[in-house]
Amino acid sequence: MLKVAVLLAVLVGGFGMSGMVGYAETQTGAKTLKEAVAGKTLIGGAVMSNHLDDPKLAALIKRELTTLTGENDFKPQSVQPEKGKFNFEAADKIADFCDQNGIKLVGHTLVWHSQAPRFLFEDDAGKPLARDVALANLKAHIDAVAGRYKGRVIGWDVVNEAISDSPNEYLRNTPALRAIGPDYLAMAFKYAAQADPGAELYYNDYSNENKEKRDKCIRLIRELKAAGCRVDAIGIQGHWMMEGWPSTQLVDEAIKAYAAEGVKVMITELDVDPLPRQTQGAAVDAREQAANPYPKDLPPDMQEKLAKRYGELFEVFAKNGNVVSRITLWGTHDGMSWLNNWPVRGRTNHGLLWDRAYNPKPAYEAVRKQLERWEK
Ligand code: XIL
Repeated sequence: MLKVAVLLAVLVGGFGMSGMVGYAETQTGAKTLKEAVAGKTLIGGAVMSNHLDDPKLAALIKRELTTLTGENDFKPQSVQPEKGKFNFEAADKIADFCDQNGIKLVGHTLVWHSQAPRFLFEDDAGKPLARDVALANLKAHIDAVAGRYKGRVIGWDVVNEAISDSPNEYLRNTPALRAIGPDYLAMAFKYAAQADPGAELYYNDYSNENKEKRDKCIRLIRELKAAGCRVDAIGIQGHWMMEGWPSTQLVDEAIKAYAAEGVKVMITELDVDPLPRQTQGAAVDAREQAANPYPKDLPPDMQEKLAKRYGELFEVFAKNGNVVSRITLWGTHDGMSWLNNWPVRGRTNHGLLWDRAYNPKPAYEAVRKQLERWEK
């Protein structure tokens, strides 16, 4: 009996050694993203509450990610569609999933000009409310939302996209700015700090790696601090192109420039768009084709380009590992990416790390490799 058992063990072990090494390396031996960078930075994704009904997606999130951001469900329009009438159902579902699975929740966002109800800062005719009324609305919103998730979010994007893209303008001309004035940002940070003193407070924007917008963002950090506000991190959204923009040098410079202001940096909404944004000078047919060139899979050469780009970006993050305290991908798998509808509606896009069958793409491997080298 014993001899048979030994023989069996040798045989099984032998098969395991020869035939199964590849399997062991890629399936069971390899670290997931969160394992690769455990304790060094946070790696997250973004979801809408109904995504969590998909068990395969829930499993992917639990296996790979340490944080989740609500892609839409915590925005002002979602949680307070009408004055004083709050709806936390969808947001709660995400918060509960995080609590149940030991995932850290990121709050997005308390103040934004988009996806926000008009009543906060304007009357029915679109005229700015009186400053004191607008401030009371701002405070009531932040008290209710940040108060509800007190102790449950690790931090809030307190204000989103408040900086102007125009060369001669500092702050974006928004309803909040028109009703309250430029100090609406400082007031929002103060109200948020009061509503959830333990939450980190972030300012989040797009293209703020670009020099001009970065300078405005640094001005904002300084003004907020001078006004007595705590600013823990700057969010660089990172809706980037596979080719052309931004250069890794620009990203590196931005991270270092923000770090010099004494704040952490988070890449808060990362995706890398491999599709053309527009084709100029082509016939309409060609243009339409170019607009949606990969309606099924991304071809292997493009997969490799995407992987290379992701790898280069994560190399910059990893080398600034003591500053970059979170990287959040804007979505999970390609089928659920907002890039399928932005900036062009109805395309098949491929800008994330998992394909539509939930399988990791070459870009995933490139990212994991850099996460394993994270410098801290
Ligand atoms: C996007 C969501 O992904 C979409 O589902 C929604 O239709 C529009 O908003 N900057 C942000 C995010 O701060 O909230 C945006 O999310 C993407 C750009």
